[in-house]
Amino acid sequence: MEFKITLLPGDGIGPEVVEEAVRVLDVIAAKYNHTFQYQERLMGGCSIDRYGTSLTDETLSDCQSSDAVLLGAVGGPKWDDPNAKDRPERGLLALRKGLSVFANLRPVKVHAALIGASPLKPERLQGVDILVIRELTGGLYFGQPKLREMRGDCEYAVDTLEYYDYEIKRIVELAFKLAEGRKQKVTSVDKANVLESSRLWRRVATDVGKKYPDVNLEHQLVDSAAMRLITGPATMDVIVTENMFGDILTDEASVLAGSMGMLPSASLSEAGVGLYEPIHGSAPDIAGKGIANPIGTILSTALLLRYSLKLEEEAACIEQAVDRAITDGARTTDLGGTLTTRQMTDEIIKHF
Ligand code: IPM
Ligand code: MG
Repeated sequence: MEFKITLLPGDGIGPEVVEEAVRVLDVIAAKYNHTFQYQERLMGGCSIDRYGTSLTDETLSDCQSSDAVLLGAVGGPKWDDPNAKDRPERGLLALRKGLSVFANLRPVKVHAALIGASPLKPERLQGVDILVIRELTGGLYFGQPKLREMRGDCEYAVDTLEYYDYEIKRIVELAFKLAEGRKQKVTSVDKANVLESSRLWRRVATDVGKKYPDVNLEHQLVDSAAMRLITGPATMDVIVTENMFGDILTDEASVLAGSMGMLPSASLSEAGVGLYEPIHGSAPDIAGKGIANPIGTILSTALLLRYSLKLEEEAACIEQAVDRAITDGARTTDLGGTLTTRQMTDEIIKHF
């Protein structure tokens, strides 16, 4: 089969990890007789440098007309000026919004051979397999008003945490559907003891839960959920939560897996194009050195094959190869090893 994939390598280590993920896709294409047509575009800081904007209309429409989008990372100190009129991150948010990818799936699995790479006690990490579903196009990231201005002698800023019931409903429904194929457990995370938007979230989650009697629903406040992720992560299955809560909790959860460089993500819309990206950032401190861990991006391509291209066997092939490479001891520096980005990918490809 033939598919069109837009590549947005972005900034920092983004280009290095996307290059390796494309090598993996090419091996899959040859093995299973597919054709992947790539179109590469600028997004983030590199797009600001070239076009004066972090996301051009053309790039967005090229993404919209492809079968899937693979993104590396955006941002870096070069574009960090708080007074700049555009930022790399704005392009990423505009892309998520422009593709209507409201559901961000962040699976967190602890590989048995990497238990030692996490600072947590080994007994807490046995059997950890969590799927965090982060709402991605609403909440605090997008609510209006959002501004910073002078009010008399004072400087004032506001961000707004807003949700419509339908935005909560569609993401919680997805959480229940995915939980059905897992351990049938949904933890809906909110701050309902303080926030009105969380009380709405909890009400909608409870209503949706009634349609899934086989799935156990629990509500947990975000502060105690943050603690439980460290004290009892193996007791959690599917977590569904607001945009910013999900941003914070998934960085925390990445510690369980041994390194942030391990975690992939899939951002899905109702029926349209999916966006796939590792959850790590642009890591400017190691950019250009060829030592970044490519696994988060390689596993993101597995999710791309599964969710956007419906190529389950090919997706599983990548996941198993990553699994085996780690079992065999392949480690980049973030995991305490010495392999380069390219060598790690070679180790994975060997297992196809
Ligand atoms: C993430 C990142 C982004 C976010 C940044 C780069 C805007 O932290 O994908 O988790 O906050 O969503
Ligand atoms: Mg984040």
